[in-house]
Amino acid sequence: MPLVTTGELVTRATAAHSAVPAFNIITLEHVEAVIAGAEAARAPVVLQVSENAVKFRYGRLLPLARAAVAAAERASVPVALHLDHVQSDDLLRQAVTAGFSSVMYDAARLPYLDNLAATRAAADWAHSQGLWIEAELGQVGGKTGEPPLDAHAPGARTDPVEAGAFVADSGVDALAVAVGSTHAMTTRTATLDHALIKRLSAALDVPLVLHGSSGVPDDELTAAVAGGIAKVNVGTALNLAMTGAIRDFLAAHPEAVDSRKYLSVGREAMAEAARRIIQVLGGTSA
Ligand code: G3H
Ligand code: ZN
Repeated sequence: MPLVTTGELVTRATAAHSAVPAFNIITLEHVEAVIAGAEAARAPVVLQVSENAVKFRYGRLLPLARAAVAAAERASVPVALHLDHVQSDDLLRQAVTAGFSSVMYDAARLPYLDNLAATRAAADWAHSQGLWIEAELGQVGGKTGEPPLDAHAPGARTDPVEAGAFVADSGVDALAVAVGSTHAMTTRTATLDHALIKRLSAALDVPLVLHGSSGVPDDELTAAVAGGIAKVNVGTALNLAMTGAIRDFLAAHPEAVDSRKYLSVGREAMAEAARRIIQVLGGTSA
């Protein structure tokens, strides 16, 4: 099946009142596991590569991107490629040639007007290249390299009136919103502001994106999708599954040396985690 675009998956999900699952990939095992999970759920999926993952891969986007494209082309479900949490203009400009149909440009750490100016420039460029672009307004805390932030602190959440102006003035295609989730949570204990999600959904004419979804319990995710969230970003949940499974395997098999043995176990655990989350989101049938 050929690669599809993130924009078409999000549009379909919005029409179906479901959400597109978007998983962060770091290794080839992540790529294979997410596609296996989506195939098991018979649902489309977004593979996303964050700027931090590119840094981990010695600053090179292409090796992981090419592997993801090759795996996606052989998948039995629609798969799209998204470049996530991009701050570097140099990385942004690699998106098209590397096979991505969409980017999330992250200038949310900047004051409002600076975020707007940087995002508008990124959106102009992205649209000139045919890319779908997501940006962030408000503070979804827990990002690598940034100071800790309380998702419930006053001023952390996205303001609907400001968000309306931000979307209109920047021209972005989707907005990541701060509604109570936090990146990199290892417990599923986040509580979301569902009234705010509904207000944002009513105020904006673009789809809403939930970040930091690993820490969000199933019933909160279901309610968030019902309230208008159309793309759900998940990263840490895969790493929790992979690392836990490998840790258990190596504890039970201290003599193990062949990396295929424990990577298989880690990959299977990630595939099952992805399948489960996709089913919770009620993904549109592939
Ligand atoms: O953009 C990526 C997501 O927001 C991942 O967050 O690792 O907390 O699931 P998470
Ligand atoms: Zn995120």
